[in-house]
Amino acid sequence: MRYSIKMDRLKASAIRAVQKKIVSKPGVISFAAGLPDPDLFPMDDLRNATLNVIDNKGKTAFQYGLTKGYAPLLEKLAERMNEKELVKCTKDNITITTGSQQGLSLAAMMFIDEGDIVLTESPSYLGGINACRPYGAAFMGVDTDDEGMVIADLEKKLKENDNVKIIYVIPNFQNPTGKAWSYNRRKEFMEVVNKYDVVVVEDNPYGEIRFKGEFIPSLKSLDTENKVMYLGSFSKILCPGLRVAYICADIEIANYAEKLKEGLDLQCNQFAQLQVYEYMTTCDIEKHIEKIQLLYKEKCDAMIEHIKNDFPKCIKYTDPEGGMFMWLELPEGMDANSLLDKSIERGVAFIPGAPFYANDGAKNTIRLNFTVPSVEEIHKGMKIFSDLLKEVCK
Ligand SMILES: Cc1ncc(COP(=O)(O)O)c(C=O)c1O
Repeated sequence: MRYSIKMDRLKASAIRAVQKKIVSKPGVISFAAGLPDPDLFPMDDLRNATLNVIDNKGKTAFQYGLTKGYAPLLEKLAERMNEKELVKCTKDNITITTGSQQGLSLAAMMFIDEGDIVLTESPSYLGGINACRPYGAAFMGVDTDDEGMVIADLEKKLKENDNVKIIYVIPNFQNPTGKAWSYNRRKEFMEVVNKYDVVVVEDNPYGEIRFKGEFIPSLKSLDTENKVMYLGSFSKILCPGLRVAYICADIEIANYAEKLKEGLDLQCNQFAQLQVYEYMTTCDIEKHIEKIQLLYKEKCDAMIEHIKNDFPKCIKYTDPEGGMFMWLELPEGMDANSLLDKSIERGVAFIPGAPFYANDGAKNTIRLNFTVPSVEEIHKGMKIFSDLLKEVCK
């Protein structure tokens, strides 16, 4: 078959490969997943919202709808962006997408020509990188510290490469590290970005799951020049299965997104959009988010307790204030991948960190997820994992 060159650029996900290993070993405690805790899906409220939609708005829910999205949901999301994210916008700035993953794909289609450069944090979200691959993007990791992208390195890369088209960032509780950018770094970042002809894709699926520390405004709220394409999602604050997410961006970007979606899928799932809208208008989503924050904090604290008390002191770790992940750095020269089989053998799985880097990754890094296992499983799994690390880090 004469496939397009784009097919040669696709890369299998390293996470899937680990998941395959785990599936073949039942009983393994997995810190490898990237899923929200399904016990937190608000089943009763979702059932009621769903029945209301079928009984009262069925003809709209099962009919074709607007490509941009269900108008009342667009209004509601614009309102929420104003109130919660302090972003001045109207419904014209919002486009509903099938997960924020579709927002990432749309950004790639909109901005990437062959050989264009995407700057990413080091490390970054694999799905964001993979969304850009088919279009022939080249990737460049920007140095990243505890406060966000290192400004001097960002500026150097922007100065030296005039074909940088996208800067892809996850400033809140990043996947994979769990880090959040400081306010000052966000401001400095926007000051630099404003000097260049680039778009910033701000991916924010975890921002609302802050369980410690103070709210920090999004890049979009600091965006005076319409450079930020903000991606929000219901996947982590409600449930991922409905695949309802949204872009908040300049009207020009919204118009291109609409045209692209006409060719891609005509529109997002209309029924799911009405379910989300009904849920938002008849239930208390803010209270639900507080419930998520509480449980994730408990789980994160349980994991951190073992890291602080039981891990060899040579292992560095992030202590996230929200989100679903934390990040470990083993001593230089160690390879997390070669630890994985032994760890799974003993009953604990994790994701080696190297594949999260756009180019060459640090082999001594590990991503841990704390939302899928129960608190008991975290204690049990972290005990096993600590014992293993004590044996290998000598
Ligand atoms: C940083 C980041 N962006 C985007 C996504 C995709 O989310 P969605 O379910 O909204 O497509 C994920 C999923 O885990 C993610 O971690």
